[in-house]
Amino acid sequence: MKLIQVKDYQEMSQKAADIVIEKVKTNPQIQLGLATGGTPEGLYDRLIADHKENHTSYEQVKSFNLDEYIGLSSTNPNSYHYYMAHTLFNHIDINQEDTNLPNGTAENIQEECVRYDEMIDKMGGIDLQILGIGQNGHIGFNEPGTSFASKTQVVDLAQSTIEANARYFNSIDEVPTQAVTMGIASIMKSKEIILLVSGVAKSEALKQLIDGDITEEFPASILKNHQNVTIIADQDALSKV
Ligand code: GLP
Repeated sequence: MKLIQVKDYQEMSQKAADIVIEKVKTNPQIQLGLATGGTPEGLYDRLIADHKENHTSYEQVKSFNLDEYIGLSSTNPNSYHYYMAHTLFNHIDINQEDTNLPNGTAENIQEECVRYDEMIDKMGGIDLQILGIGQNGHIGFNEPGTSFASKTQVVDLAQSTIEANARYFNSIDEVPTQAVTMGIASIMKSKEIILLVSGVAKSEALKQLIDGDITEEFPASILKNHQNVTIIADQDALSKV
């Protein structure tokens, strides 16, 4: 894993945006894997600003998101469909039909998981995956103990994840307890991965990622087995390394 050390959240976001923009310019048909949560918001802000100023085009780009809550429709402001539309897609020229997220309200959710993996494979896979990390080392919504062989699947959220994400909901009782997420094996198929890590709350996780063993008890540790991973981490996140 390559580590890029930056000062703060702003610099992390700018660095990530520079890389993504360069790749979109070089390969206008790039297939991007996208993440949600607080971490990539600064990256998306900068992609939007660059699109407005420099007209970098996403017209031929396809995107695939990591995960979605079970039971939240795309019009629910806490759904990741809604997050992606409002945080990025509505502000750039990507075609709506080229943006993909797992459907957390599918009637047959197991079929939806199979469909999602097959669709990504059929379309040639993800060129560049943006990832965040949970405080417990989760990637996507793959919590500790998830098999490294897992494909897109339904998962129960860890209590710590529910608590961490409760900040977006009116009350913790409203946070869904399940999600559909690309599996670890699905994520590892991406040709390239950028992991964004910011803030002191992630410092323990980043230390474990860098110093710890590869174990299913710490899902992000599998990234050590990937050929092309870049971590962009700020000083606070690196404070325990
Ligand atoms: C969330 C998402 C992940 C995200 C992680 C960290 O629950 N499912 O994709 O990377 O947890 O979130 P944040 O960036 O808000 O700290």
